[in-house]
Amino acid sequence: MSGQKIVVLGTGGTIAGTAADAADNIGYKAAQVGVRDLLASIPALSQSEGVAVEAEQVAQVDSKDMDFDIWTRLAARCQHHLDHPAVKGVVITHGTDTLEETAWFLQEVLRCTKPVVLTSAMRPASALTPDGPQNLMDAVALALAPDVRGVFAVAAGEVHGARLVQKAHPYRVNAFASGDGGPLGWMEEGSVRWAPNISVAHESKGRIAMIVIANAVSAPRVEIILSHAGARGSLVDALVRDGVQGLVVACTGNGTIHHALEDALLRAQVAGVRVVRATRCSGGQVLPKPGDLFVDSRGLSPVKARISLMLDLLVGA
Ligand code: SIN
Repeated sequence: MSGQKIVVLGTGGTIAGTAADAADNIGYKAAQVGVRDLLASIPALSQSEGVAVEAEQVAQVDSKDMDFDIWTRLAARCQHHLDHPAVKGVVITHGTDTLEETAWFLQEVLRCTKPVVLTSAMRPASALTPDGPQNLMDAVALALAPDVRGVFAVAAGEVHGARLVQKAHPYRVNAFASGDGGPLGWMEEGSVRWAPNISVAHESKGRIAMIVIANAVSAPRVEIILSHAGARGSLVDALVRDGVQGLVVACTGNGTIHHALEDALLRAQVAGVRVVRATRCSGGQVLPKPGDLFVDSRGLSPVKARISLMLDLLVGA
């Protein structure tokens, strides 16, 4: 490939983390190394002929602290670069913990006929065998691959789509999964091998206009409530008193809710709070049936359903 540009936007995470001891893979501080330094530590990236890889630091956080303001800034920088004809794709370095949420937010808001590839690491940059450099090389390779559009996550040689990707393991290097769907493909020595019958065009049309997000004074308040044995409704009542606008329920099984919690949710719904059911199961989705008291998330996990509900509330949908 010649004359192409990839922009790498840094947001922090373990991929930019450092530990005092190189043998320590968990006692590190995330978000310590700037994205330019990360790139500089992988000479192969700057040596790809005809490809310019540029870096920009958008944020520097442990992704557990990700928030709407950073998402808004990140989306704006992504769109800015994607709109530039010379840019082939955007790569984002991110913490693994909320990567799936950022991926879904971007899928919802970007107008993108080019690839946006989020990547991460489970081991800090200072580790004896860090996984970040290979992940970053794979993410750039995917962003350079032909006919790839939309938002993806790449780690441990696997390619996942924004809709299904979930962090599924707190420690192992291949921490991501896509539930029933499985990976969309695999990165192999700089090339992507797609799973059979996969459409690589997860094109995002920007369901929610960027201007609406940019002009939002604050994000609508949407909280996630877990239904579990012995659940009670008082938390929901307290949130309603506190001005919550939307509630996503991480339900048992096929969208069922403890009766005490359900009573409180019905009170909330009558009071004007939007209530959406998602399943707390790691695979599958809630199958709606006649007589359901609350709408379902149409296959989105609780954290992603929260993002879509927040955006719906923002546009008054
Ligand atoms: C983070 O999500 O920022 C820290 C954990 C990780 O990246 O694995």
